[in-house]
Amino acid sequence: MKPSIAIVGCGRMGTALAKTLSDRSWPIIGTSSLHRISAQKVAALCHAAAATDQPWEITSGADIIFLTTPDGVIASVCNDIARHGGFSAGAVVLHCSGAHASTILSAAHQNQAWIGSMHPLQSFASVDLSRNPFKGIRAAIEGDAAAISLATRIIEDLEATPLHIATSGKPLYHAAAVVASNFLVTLMGAASRMIQQAGVSSEDALVVLKPLIDGTLANIEQAGVYQALTGPVVRGDLQTIETHIRAMEETMPDILPLYRCLVHYTALLAREGNRISEDGLSVLQKVWKPQETPVS
Ligand SMILES: NC(=O)c1ccc[n+]([C@@H]2O[C@H](COP(=O)([O-])OP(=O)(O)OC[C@H]3O[C@@H](n4cnc5c(N)ncnc54)[C@H](OP(=O)(O)O)[C@@H]3O)[C@@H](O)[C@H]2O)c1
Repeated sequence: MKPSIAIVGCGRMGTALAKTLSDRSWPIIGTSSLHRISAQKVAALCHAAAATDQPWEITSGADIIFLTTPDGVIASVCNDIARHGGFSAGAVVLHCSGAHASTILSAAHQNQAWIGSMHPLQSFASVDLSRNPFKGIRAAIEGDAAAISLATRIIEDLEATPLHIATSGKPLYHAAAVVASNFLVTLMGAASRMIQQAGVSSEDALVVLKPLIDGTLANIEQAGVYQALTGPVVRGDLQTIETHIRAMEETMPDILPLYRCLVHYTALLAREGNRISEDGLSVLQKVWKPQETPVS
């Protein structure tokens, strides 16, 4: 028999965990959410006997408690449950936040429960339950040894792979995920606007850029970031960069700070990878007006 689970916070993550773990024979003994109706819907999906808006009613009998509320209320929900004596001794309390460490659950230690964080490195935009959304992804874990051990068992059963992160490393780990995922979207938004300004239709903008993006990702995968660098910065082609800047000054000056900042970090990356010399880096630095040079 697998350890029993209670889910507190029945949104996208809570629903995905409840359904997928239930499908793999983890007994979900109860669900809880801010609104009882959310808890009832998820309870029906995972065959849980109890659904409530008073989480301690279901957490006290569970071996594992997932706190899948929004990040901002995880600590206060945990405090409330602990105040009601809602964690049993030896139970494991896990949250799924990427940015926060397990330490925001420290109130559970008052009930002699273990604490940890388990962050599935995936975007759960909707509750699509037709397939296992955890399959093939990484999930970052840290916390008490007992919590890491149970989280590892869960992750492997979900067909994901555990990624061990230091508790102090959580904010930077999550910032990296934001840069890789959210900021890629921001960059594509900027590139799309620029190519439209150059005369490409809005329907074609991303279609035209897509093979370039795919090729770049493939190059990064095959050769790493230093060797994947192409273009005017790594060539030290100051003239081309100045042509870009003049065009942006005339037509879309709001994008210039982003462009200058990216030239700065691309030049530093090229230097780090020994693709340009120290002199080449100094030449590129002339592109930036002193007041616009990003603070390093
Ligand atoms: N979605 C993702 O892509 C993703 C990926 C990785 C990690 N995560 C993490 O997973 C956690 C949950 O995120 P989510 O995307 O599932 O959020 P979500 O879809 O907004 O769901 C959060 C749920 O928590 C419930 N809730 C709000 N306040 C509560 C409270 N005080 N007590 C009990 N329940 C409360 C809400 O319930 P009602 O429906 O009852 O109002 C809501 O359904 C977060 O820590 C997030 O960082 C999310």
